[in-house]
Amino acid sequence: MTGSAKTPLAARRSGPLQGRVRVPGDKSISHRALIFGALAVGETRISGLLEGDDVLNTGNAMRALGAKVERTGGGAWRVQGVGVGGLRAPTDVLDFGNSGTGCRLVLGAVAGCPISAVFDGDASLRRRPMQRILDPITLMGARTLSAADGGRLPIRLEGARDPIPILYRTPVPSAQIKSAVLLAGLAAPGETTVIETQASRDHTERLLEHFGARITVAPEGPHGRRITLTGEPELHPAPVVVPADPSSAAFPMVAALIVPGSDVIVTEVMTNPLRTGLITTLHEMGARIETLEVRGDAGEAMADFRIRASGLHGVDVPAARAPAMIDEYPILAVAAAFAHGTTIMRGLKELRVKESDRLAAVAEGLRLNGVAVEIDGDDLIVHGSGTVAGGGQVATHMDHRIAMSFLVMGLASGKPVGIDDSAFIATSFPGFVAMLRGLGADLDAAP
Ligand code: S3P
Repeated sequence: MTGSAKTPLAARRSGPLQGRVRVPGDKSISHRALIFGALAVGETRISGLLEGDDVLNTGNAMRALGAKVERTGGGAWRVQGVGVGGLRAPTDVLDFGNSGTGCRLVLGAVAGCPISAVFDGDASLRRRPMQRILDPITLMGARTLSAADGGRLPIRLEGARDPIPILYRTPVPSAQIKSAVLLAGLAAPGETTVIETQASRDHTERLLEHFGARITVAPEGPHGRRITLTGEPELHPAPVVVPADPSSAAFPMVAALIVPGSDVIVTEVMTNPLRTGLITTLHEMGARIETLEVRGDAGEAMADFRIRASGLHGVDVPAARAPAMIDEYPILAVAAAFAHGTTIMRGLKELRVKESDRLAAVAEGLRLNGVAVEIDGDDLIVHGSGTVAGGGQVATHMDHRIAMSFLVMGLASGKPVGIDDSAFIATSFPGFVAMLRGLGADLDAAP
């Protein structure tokens, strides 16, 4: 995607959004289903897999590492695993495209195998920090044979011949760091422990248990967790049903809240409490979001939500909530722009190292569209006035969530909002534009 021409898009003020949608499968679970399937002995069947570029790149990587990965129908995939420690050296560079999750988790998986592999990605991924993964996996016996400045991609990694179990305290709350350590720990004898002071999404822990590993999770301090994995398990294939991604559901939800007269139902959204910080925050802002039906599948609960256009007001979002809504701040900032009063979003340091510097990209996009916004240290402060002028052309910086957030903003702004490039939306949400149009949104190629 890196070298292709940009595909601008604009969103215009739209009539009421109406209808029922199911957004694609959860990205975090989709990556993990392919990776754990590849490390299990036998065949794992996955349904509802997100077929976005990020996940497809992870599938290609697991295939290059020796697993058989096949698509058997829409969202239906079959993975023939090679067993823990059984990955084989790839003949080519592993290209993770735009995906930090795919790259970092597979770094962990390779770290526990006696093979070497080259990891690379697009210009956005090459800018993102990888040292946070190299640090723990080096303690576990892996070696970085080469890396770009600051431990960045491209990285040539040599996995450990005899992986060492460790106790590791993650320096920032990050499910990617935690998961990389646990993946490397699968191949280590004895207990690998990860301590996090703020709990991050726990899909790795849940899936490891689902595949038969011994893993215990205990509270650590007021907000943290201590996770202990017993190494060298045989992972047994278990079917994985991927629920709809709450981070993708966030876009039609906020669109329905800000476009006057809207009434939308979003179905089968995963409601893992470590992912629902946005819904909590929107409720505090006065959003009319109703839970219609709750179900559960393969260890994750899900629900249908009815969202009606709502008058929102500003709120103070505590830093402790950040891990449960880390990917939702760009779209929350859009909701905050349409709210009355000031919204303070605290503790957003990690937003600076996502697919783009999201703190800067959000502030710049809001300003261009006439919204009063400040960055104070690691906090983002949006002064909402109930309406947004619009008329700005937003730079998306190779970041899917910046692209989708500002398109949603344009649906209720005075003037249209344009984005410079819609191509990266396909990394996480193929069908995004068609879904919004199906609800009645007015989106078109930018003038
Ligand atoms: C993810 C973890 C988060 C999140 C990313 C997906 C995961 O990153 O931003 O989109 O699937 O583990 P960090 O763990 O680096 O916060």
